[in-house]
Amino acid sequence: MRQLEITSFSFVFIISTILFVSCSAKTYPVDHEQLSEDERIVIRFSHVVGEDTPKGLASRRFAELVEERTDGYVEVQVFPNSFLYKDGEELDALLDGDVQMIAPATSKVSSIVPEWQVMDLPFAFDSELEAKEYISSPAGEVLKKKLEQKGMYYLSYWDNGFKQMTNKHHSLQDPKDFKDVTFRIMESELLEEQFKLLGANSQVETFDQVFSVLEKGHVQAQENTFSNIVNKNIHSVQDYMTVSNHGYLGYLVIMNADFWEDLPDEVQMIILDVLEEVTEWQAELAKQVNQDKYKTLVDCNCMKIHQLSETEKKQWEEALNPLYDTYIERFGAEYIEYIPKLKQ
Ligand code: LMR
Repeated sequence: MRQLEITSFSFVFIISTILFVSCSAKTYPVDHEQLSEDERIVIRFSHVVGEDTPKGLASRRFAELVEERTDGYVEVQVFPNSFLYKDGEELDALLDGDVQMIAPATSKVSSIVPEWQVMDLPFAFDSELEAKEYISSPAGEVLKKKLEQKGMYYLSYWDNGFKQMTNKHHSLQDPKDFKDVTFRIMESELLEEQFKLLGANSQVETFDQVFSVLEKGHVQAQENTFSNIVNKNIHSVQDYMTVSNHGYLGYLVIMNADFWEDLPDEVQMIILDVLEEVTEWQAELAKQVNQDKYKTLVDCNCMKIHQLSETEKKQWEEALNPLYDTYIERFGAEYIEYIPKLKQ
């Protein structure tokens, strides 16, 4: 009899929990384990890089921790390697609600909020920390708000690392070495102008196409982090690399804003807590992954590696400095003045 009472109590509890969930999007059910797949919250998280990269590893850890801390009530499905959507497509998919979460490079959201391009300014940051400080500066806060106005809720900023130049035919040391070389770039007008100032050409290609366009010789060169170079096996189709650290590649971890709004408060809190933890962990990890991949590139003996000297760096900076004035004029000084090298 007592057994029967407990069973019927559980039944009522489960039913009322389910009703609660379906009636109010803001309610966090207590007894999550009793919920079926359909009653759980599913977050589809799409990205374009491999699993063994700073973003790949961080998104996996985020998924595990969210699932663990919500007792499985929230399931994060991670789709790496452009498996679902390529660059550009993933932004549309987020806005259309086909996926709920993405982490594109800052350059890539510039198709929707152009001002994010300021993070592509060459030699803007000397360390990962400086890039992070920019994100938390008043200018960074305005940029995050702009994302929200476009339907993308900013959650966090993840690191990859500094971009390096690679080329097929010769070493890139002096600005004149860039003349007439065609580079694959991410979609960003600023990156296009960066190469134009060096006398080079550029071609926008999605990340999944980088290897193929280099292999076929449609472009001869590209810029990317050690991690991405190894991830896409770029070193097998490039003969020269210049360690230039000329640009920083970081990611905006963003969610569909309506989806975020509809999440129960408790779930939002868990997601933010987990992200804080993962972001901190990820920053160290990104450094380690890039160091390891640099070692892979040295050990493979497959590219001639040149370290940009201070004198060469000054020459590159001189050639590229006009970009700062162009972008102050285009977007306003308020976005540029927080770039560390311009801060007084
Ligand atoms: C690229 O397209 O080169 C990178 O932004 C890919 C990535 O997400 O790291």
